[in-house]
Amino acid sequence: MPIERTLSIIKPDAVAAGHIGDILKILEANRFKMIAARLRRLTRKEAEGFYAVHRHRPFFASLTEFMSSGPALVMVLEGENGITRLREIMGATDPAKAAPGTIRKLCAESIERNAIHGSDAPDTAAFEISYFFPGIDL
Ligand code: CMP
Repeated sequence: MPIERTLSIIKPDAVAAGHIGDILKILEANRFKMIAARLRRLTRKEAEGFYAVHRHRPFFASLTEFMSSGPALVMVLEGENGITRLREIMGATDPAKAAPGTIRKLCAESIERNAIHGSDAPDTAAFEISYFFPGIDL
């Protein structure tokens, strides 16, 4: 299986709820390696640029407000089949539908405040990594 890098964000809800350690423990137990990380509050503009693909969705304003509401841990993670595998470990977008043992089942509040983000494909991973970590060696 290929070694892949993916962009992950521990979102403001999970940071505020004290779940950083719980989530990193799950990631490390699943053999993800942290390549880069920054704990920071996104500006509204950064959140809008990051989620630009969703700009016509009804939840866009609320999502970008939430994502810029407090500190988030933005990370580049690396692992075997990392893009797909991270999304499996995260669980379904809506925590009510997430499988037992997944990060969202354990830590998320709602479909919007859903604890963690992970890139959904190689091209989005490349865009998202360079969005937050320009110049990082891919
Ligand atoms: P994420 O995986 O970061 O990708 C897009 C985000 O939009 C998603 O997690 C949720 O935070 C949010 N989202 C997706 N669908 C909905 C929805 N139906 N209502 C509110 N927020 C949503």
